[in-house]
Amino acid sequence: MSIISTDIQKAISLLENEKLVAIPTETVYGLAGNIFSEKAIQQIFTTKKRPHFNPLIVHIHSLEALKSIVSYVPEKAKKLAEAFWPGSLTLVLPKKNTIPDLITAGKNTVAVRVPNHPLTLELLKQLPFPLAAPSANPFNSISPTKAIHVAHYFGDKIDLILDGGSCKNGIESTIVGFENEEAVIYRLGALSVENIEKIIGKVTLKNTKEENPEAPGMLLKHYAPKTKTILTDNILEEIKKFQGKKIGVLAFQNEVISDGIFENIILSKTGNLEEAGTNLYDSLHQLDSLELDVIIAEKLPEIGLGNSVNDRLQRAAFQI
Ligand code: TXA
Ligand code: MG
Repeated sequence: MSIISTDIQKAISLLENEKLVAIPTETVYGLAGNIFSEKAIQQIFTTKKRPHFNPLIVHIHSLEALKSIVSYVPEKAKKLAEAFWPGSLTLVLPKKNTIPDLITAGKNTVAVRVPNHPLTLELLKQLPFPLAAPSANPFNSISPTKAIHVAHYFGDKIDLILDGGSCKNGIESTIVGFENEEAVIYRLGALSVENIEKIIGKVTLKNTKEENPEAPGMLLKHYAPKTKTILTDNILEEIKKFQGKKIGVLAFQNEVISDGIFENIILSKTGNLEEAGTNLYDSLHQLDSLELDVIIAEKLPEIGLGNSVNDRLQRAAFQI
């Protein structure tokens, strides 16, 4: 059984010995290893059962440290980093030759961010190397927003889960790449498109329905509970289709009153989209543990973080 603790020194010593440590961030927990240790990075892929074509995000402690990772920073990338780091923004930029191909899946770009969590920032400051950290969940399953979620997934496979409490934002970082100096959103996330556009003006969204996307986090089936999941504008209509079944409801703001609901979780009673994002994965973890026949989730308003939450729910609900 792995140890859930706040012992940074233990984390440092494990990471320096090419071991993995689960780390808290403001988005989701990450499964971290030294970017320069082939052993640690291979272990990340094996532990997550993640295909090698899916590159990892590099975590650094400051904007200052960016120059050791990337070879070029477009003007708009600099503006975004200054505005949002530490925070839920991942930049995809041309990589330095020193960044191992294993991290970038052979691409000439690297994804990088400064996470906004005091424990992990302190850890990154004390370590002599950056950390690669994908979300600490098996490939395609629900991302972890609490130490206990990580323990359920990997309890017997890793030595330490650094406990930073519940993740404040609860949904992955927004990934932004650059094509001819212009920003392109590769993955919707905890930083809203509207807030990005306040800093650099209009941005393009990559077609998030692509089968062979720029960011493999955009796979059609992803972030998925084991339980069959349905995303809808009309919960009552869907409930009728599952008469006699054990139904879980994930509603945005209002309680759904109907016979046959076994569990009803509300993402934000005040209709706050950020709060809905924070609660999304924990609610899915809860519903998925109830042996339900179906989870019926309500679509959120299509503004701000509503779009990011809908994106995750669409992938969770995708039927292969
Ligand atoms: O909030 C987050 O970003 C969390 C925390 C732990 O930092 N990490 C996270 O990592 O979500 P992961 O591995 O679950 O998702 C990273 C996504 C993947 O979809 C990957 O394909 C994409 O980033 N990515 C990584 N490097 C890339 C690159 N060079 N070009 C395009 N996409 C890239
Ligand atoms: Mg992930």
